Amino acid sequence: MNQATSIGAERLQRRMARGVDFLGSEAAILCGAMSWVSERHLVAAMSNAGGFGLIACGAMTPELLDREIAATKALTSKPFGVNLITMHPALFELIEVCNKHAVSHVVLAGGLPPTGSIDAIKQNGAKLICFAPALSLAKKLIRSGVDALVVEGMEAGGHIGPVSTSVLAQEILPDVADKVPVFVAGGIGRGEAIAAYLDMGAAGVQLGTRFVCATESIAHANFKKAFIRASARDATASVQIDPRLPVIPVRALKNAGGDLFTAKQREVAQLLDEGKLAMAEAQLQIEHYWAGALRRAVIDGDVEHGSLMAGQSVGMVTKEEPLADILATLMIEAAHALEKRAV
Ligand SMILES: Cc1cc2nc3c(=O)[nH]c(=O)nc-3n(C[C@H](O)[C@H](O)[C@H](O)COP(=O)(O)O)c2cc1C
Repeated sequence: MNQATSIGAERLQRRMARGVDFLGSEAAILCGAMSWVSERHLVAAMSNAGGFGLIACGAMTPELLDREIAATKALTSKPFGVNLITMHPALFELIEVCNKHAVSHVVLAGGLPPTGSIDAIKQNGAKLICFAPALSLAKKLIRSGVDALVVEGMEAGGHIGPVSTSVLAQEILPDVADKVPVFVAGGIGRGEAIAAYLDMGAAGVQLGTRFVCATESIAHANFKKAFIRASARDATASVQIDPRLPVIPVRALKNAGGDLFTAKQREVAQLLDEGKLAMAEAQLQIEHYWAGALRRAVIDGDVEHGSLMAGQSVGMVTKEEPLADILATLMIEAAHALEKRAV
């Protein structure tokens, strides 16, 4: 890979300045939280390399999160954040754990912040980042006091919305990019795309899929092999089989696990019909299913029956390599792209 000239690197730094200032990192690139994958090793590797790592709390208990934050701090002195899922039953205890450790950035994922959560997070000075799935919600979140937004399109791995990254970026950036830093996510595999979103007004970007095969990632060798073999078209969205049971689609590599999810939906829909489950509980069961299935693939290496959550950028993952090399490649590609611009 050719080195970028200082002109390209300088232009990139200038475009990333706001994001860098907000995150306290060297590059305005976040490694999106990935349940089971984004634990101490990947998070510390990302932050140590100059990017910004995020611990995926997922279904962790407050005690486990407490230990994970402490262990991450032991591996890096650079800033990192914690991603919490809004529907976690112990959300407020998890926020307390973050406050206890003076975590500088908290990401709330999985829906709008519940009442009281914004104040609870910000009372100690932590910066709050939320996902904005539409312009109206972006504006509402900013009015509620959210400090930064992630705009994530359906090309992403894991739980997804219905709209593509390119459309969301065009819809949201012109209206809100001057109000709070906005990080674009979903389908980014190369630096040229990072340069393009920065030029559209993004303060930075968030990538997940591209970092899964970092050497420091604890994902099972089978999980990494599946990523390295896959192409974009293998990363498909799950299908909702019952109109009464709204399930958030999940993008993952096709495998036999897809049939297990269909069976799980049938089982939950039947319990719903029989009045044995309320809708909220039914949806929670679906989320528990995903957490278990992802663990089976990431930790146990069962890539047939577990969930291989991956974004469409998976085709651009071609080998296992140190996280610092992945980040450096992205930065060089972005800087090269910017050399072609006028300023
Ligand atoms: C294996 C996997 C697990 C994920 N788990 C979570 C999660 O627990 N919480 C979350 O907010 N996002 C999760 N995501 C989304 C990522 O944080 C990130 O936003 C996304 O991967 C960006 O899109 P990309 O995959 O196209 O780079 C996950 C993504 C993957 C690939």
